[in-house]
Amino acid sequence: MNYILAHKKIIMGVSGSIAAYKTVDWVRCLGREGAEVNVVLTEAAARFVTPLTFAALSGNRVYGAMFDSVDMEEIPHIKLAGQADLILVAPATAQTIARLAHGFADDLLAAIILASQAKIVICPAMNSRMYLHAATRRNLKILAEFGYKIVEPESGSMACGEVGPGRLPEWDMVRRELCAVFSPQDLLGKTIIVSAGPTHEPLDPVRYLGNRSSGKMGYALAAVARQRGARVILISGPTHIAPPAGVKTVRVQTAVEMRDAVMKYFSEADIIIKAAAVSDFRPARRSEQKIKKSNAQLNLLLAANPDILLELGQKRKKRAKPLVLVGFAAESENHLKEAQRKLEDKNLDLLVVNDILAEDSGFAVDSNRVTILSCGKEKIELPLLSKEETAGRIIDEIVGLLGGKLMVEKK
Ligand code: CTP
Repeated sequence: MNYILAHKKIIMGVSGSIAAYKTVDWVRCLGREGAEVNVVLTEAAARFVTPLTFAALSGNRVYGAMFDSVDMEEIPHIKLAGQADLILVAPATAQTIARLAHGFADDLLAAIILASQAKIVICPAMNSRMYLHAATRRNLKILAEFGYKIVEPESGSMACGEVGPGRLPEWDMVRRELCAVFSPQDLLGKTIIVSAGPTHEPLDPVRYLGNRSSGKMGYALAAVARQRGARVILISGPTHIAPPAGVKTVRVQTAVEMRDAVMKYFSEADIIIKAAAVSDFRPARRSEQKIKKSNAQLNLLLAANPDILLELGQKRKKRAKPLVLVGFAAESENHLKEAQRKLEDKNLDLLVVNDILAEDSGFAVDSNRVTILSCGKEKIELPLLSKEETAGRIIDEIVGLLGGKLMVEKK
């Protein structure tokens, strides 16, 4: 369950585009996140997808025409408008966008939006030429001026066979926009570097030294920082996770490449979080050819990799611009002692430690149970949380440091 969307009352306004079928699944996704969804269909939308489908998936009655209320006491547009935290119009057709831009209240969805003080998110979806027409452009500009969030459509081939902008974006993208709407913008104007995932240290053209890090914690931090308004540079070792929308992603393989990428952006960063599981060693020699098994025994000589965080901790001392520096420690024993040592040795503001042997907080799972250590403050033991929520709590601590005095700066 997503903690940001949980218990939020969301109206999903669906208007009449072939893309309406995609939003059926969005209702299910929102339900899984713990949101309460009420669906309002325009007359045209009900021709593409039946109200029954949405009712079954949302678990709630679906609203359609303005005057088909069964309860004579109820004025549906006023009741729904007052209850909603957010109204998501998806797909928003050219007709619905025009209606909203000009303040019409001639169907239930338009009337609800006119009567509501909820946050409004619009996902336009239509034929490219309709989308690019000056009338639609102007209408969308008007909606943006009202303070509505416009989620730009994707480009690609459309149901009508044409190619261009106008496709409804994927749910992941829209979900991030919804989370951002509900998130404090307390990292606005800040640049944050997050390193994530493992490093792969090549041994020959097919083999490498690696580790079991999935990158999930680092990617969650990057996504949450972006939702909270930061400019995010995600420096990622090899992972199978799609990068969060709106984040600049730099892909690296080895610790040396990761070091170079982090140092390249060092001077721009206000915050650096090193969530990556960097390999401490690499094969001293990389074989150009595949190593054959003909040798009965193979001794591997390893060379030490640079300790990127240690270097950052030293480098920050000579920097005029303040920096919040955060490390991670994945420990299997003496967690707090090891973590405290790393916090001090690497000159960090915060160190986040977890137990990699615990089933619910190790590698490749969606949950984590961490303790946050900081200089001169009590340690914070977080309960078992999703990695996304853990990321939110770590960022809360960072925001606290940005507001106050950076403890380590004077060392
Ligand atoms: N780290 C790094 N460069 C390295 C090794 C680690 O930047 N070559 C960073 C990690 O990204 C993490 C922190 O240092 O934020 C701690 O990493 P960890 O592997 O737990 O500790 P090490 O410093 O490698 O110490 P040890 O091997 O003694 O546990």
